[in-house]
Formats: sequence, structure tokens, C-alpha cells
Amino acid sequence: MTTHTAFPSTFVWGAAASAYQTEGAVYADGRGESIWDRFCTEPGRIKDGANGGVACDFYGRYREDIDLMRSLGLDAFRFSVAWPRVIPDGRGPVNSAGLDFYDRLVDDLLAAGITPYVNLFHWDLPQPLQDAGGWPLRATAELFAQYAATVGARLGDRVRHWITHNEPACASWLGYGTGVHAPGHRSVDEALAAAHHLLLSHGLAVGELRRCSPHAEIGIVVDSWPAYPWTDSPEDRAAVRLADGMTNRWFFDALFRGEYPADMLEHFGDAVPAIEVGDLGVISTPLDFVGANNYSRHFVRANPSGGAPLDVRAPGGELTAMGWEVYPAGIREVLTRLHRDYGIDQLYVAENGAAFADVRTHDGAIHDFDRIGYLDAYLTEVAAAMADGVPVRGYFVWSLLDNFEWAEGYSKRFGLVFVDYPTLERIPKDSFYWYRDLIAQARGVTLAA
Ligand code: GCO
Repeated sequence: MTTHTAFPSTFVWGAAASAYQTEGAVYADGRGESIWDRFCTEPGRIKDGANGGVACDFYGRYREDIDLMRSLGLDAFRFSVAWPRVIPDGRGPVNSAGLDFYDRLVDDLLAAGITPYVNLFHWDLPQPLQDAGGWPLRATAELFAQYAATVGARLGDRVRHWITHNEPACASWLGYGTGVHAPGHRSVDEALAAAHHLLLSHGLAVGELRRCSPHAEIGIVVDSWPAYPWTDSPEDRAAVRLADGMTNRWFFDALFRGEYPADMLEHFGDAVPAIEVGDLGVISTPLDFVGANNYSRHFVRANPSGGAPLDVRAPGGELTAMGWEVYPAGIREVLTRLHRDYGIDQLYVAENGAAFADVRTHDGAIHDFDRIGYLDAYLTEVAAAMADGVPVRGYFVWSLLDNFEWAEGYSKRFGLVFVDYPTLERIPKDSFYWYRDLIAQARGVTLAA
């Protein structure tokens, strides 16, 4: 049971979401096409054949959702800006109607006493930029910096917390390496080039945001799952180091040490992209905070064919609807590692949550005790990390609403709020009330009966 007293009164209680997963309105008010709009048209890419065309209609119902945030007592809401809504072609003309939406959203959040944590990129690259080469093309990094300057110029006077990217490891490896995410390419060379340019774009964007939002804190959100060997064999232990090197150390060492790990440079060999003098200095631009996303852990075994390490399903642990093992200690390990090994002195849990097979029962409620148990167990480990001296400043649950879960479509529900997709009705789950009460207790607030 989470001891709410473990969290200081300054602790930031939040919820996270992203543009493509919740906004809908993909053709409204001048928005341009994103690679996810295109990806969803390709047969077989999305499990239930769905797309983000309507999603949760956050674009049209955000005021209703801010009321839900206020009912929770949230301090903060982390959302992403859709690049194609702001600059439809990715470069050139700005769509003022798109910027107007985020302007209203920021103002309404602030009016509700909710701090906006604004993420510039959560995977929805404008399709015309992908047609020109996408993240494997260095020029995309410079265009991202211009996009950052555009959004920063409009919102920088009110936004005090900026995030440049969400999970560059996923945007690169899943989008260009394994192809399970947009744009669906399968090339190690492209994935590494995309990773480098995503990281470069991050550093360039920090510079732009420092200029137009000088009083703001700026960070990046990385995903990190601890990797464990499937057996204690030397091969599987080597596979863990390789897997960790691909998805964690490649990004963490570049961002926080200004170098790519030597063992991984050797491993990737000729696939390593062109790295220009000064790139790593830009990439490792000092930050004010780092957000860590954690849901579970990996079990890894050596690939008999010599290829990339193989992910293996957890041995018998409790699984979420995603097939991910419930492993609360993993979040403590990730937070501790980022602080201890990389010297991060301001951390947020930028995403943590779980999908379960939620059912609306005869009383009209959703009794998601499994999600409550998950959140309680993970928050207990976050508190333990803090008790060890790890500087965790806040926690953002993934997610406020059920939403479009990428290649899983709408088949997986992560929300504290159930979305009845045919009607878009929002129904708070039991976990919504649990999180609300936890926040109130942590604040020493007694809620009216
Ligand atoms: C991620 C993304 C989210 C996902 C969430 C559940 O971490 O993959 O940031 O967009 O929806 O994590 O998988």
C-alpha cells in the first residue's frame, strides 16, 4: 500500500497523454498528414484496423477532460503538440489555427490550476518530411528546431516545462528498425541515423527553447526497462548488455555523457551514421530534468542466429493486457540508475500505468482493482527510490483516458477514465478515484464526502 506520506507536498502529481493517441480531428482546421495517419491506412499495421481519426476527440472535448483533471486534483498534465497541426508540411507555412488550439489548451489548463508540461514530439512526424527522408535525414533535425522555435514563440511566455521528445529509442528503433511503428521501415542503418538525428534535433530544440522561453525548465523523456538474462549463461548475459546498449546506453550516454558507448560503436560498425564534429556537444546540451517512462522489464536471451537479442516473455509473473510483466522494482532500478550512473538531479516518472481488460459492470462502474494494485505497487517503489535519495520530483500516470495504443489500436485500455468509443462518453474507473484520494492524502487535504 502506497504510503502517501512518502511524497513531499511539493511532489507533482500528473497524468500524461499524446496528440495522435487522443486528439482525433486529423483533418480539422488545417492539420497536415502525419506518418501515423499514413501508417494506419496500410493493411495489417494496426491490430484492429483502427486509426487516430477520432481517437478520444480530445481536440473537441479538452475542456471536459480538463474538468476530469481538476476532479483528480492534478498538479500537471503532460501532453504533446502535433507538429502537423502547427506546420502542416513540416516546413514552411505555420497553421495559426493549429497553434490556436494549443494556446487555448495551455490557457485553460493554467486557469484550472494545472501546470502544462508540453512535449514537442510524440512520434507524429509530418508525412511530407518522411517523404523527403524522415528522421534518417539530417535536415529533419534542423526542421524540428524551427518547429520548436515556432511553438516556443507562441507558448513560451506561459509554459514553464518543456519536453523535446518522447522516447527517441522507440521513434527510431520501432519506426525504422523493426517497423512495428510508423513509418514501418526495417533497417538498422535507418534506425541509427534516425536515432542520431532525433537526438541532434533534441539538442537544437533546447537551444531554441532557451531563447524563447528563458524561465522554463527543459527536459527529455526516455523509456527504460531493466533487462535481465533469460538464463545465467555467458551468451544470455552478453545479450543483456547488447540489448541494454541498443535501447538504453546508446541514448543515455549520448544525452548525458556526450558520447556513444564504445562497445556499441564497435558492434554497429559501418551502420553508425555520419556524426559531425560538434553533434555530441549539441546532443548533450545541459537539461533541467529527465522524464523516465517505465512499465515493466525485459527478459533477454542470445539470438541463435547471431542477430539482435531476443525478448522472452517473463517467467510466470503477473502480466498486464499488453503481456508485460508487473515488476514494480524495475521503476526503482531505472530511476536509481539515471541518478547514480548519469548524475540526473531532477527526475520525473513521465509515464507509468497498465492496460487491463476493463469491463463496465451492472452498476455502470469499472472496478479496475488490477490497475489500482499495479499503480500502488509501482508508486511504493518510486517512494522507496526517493527514500534512497533519488530526486524524483513527480509522477505522471499513463494515461488520463483510454486512447489509441499504436499498433494495438483501441484494444488496450490504459486510462484512469474509460472511453466508450462509440459515444466518446468518459467514465472514471475505480482507479481514477483511488488516484484522486491518494493525491488528496499526499497533500493532507480532506475530500468532501
Ligand atoms: C510509450 C508511449 C505511449 C504508450 C504507452 C503505453 O511509452 O510507448 O509513450 O504512447 O501508449 O507507453 O504503451
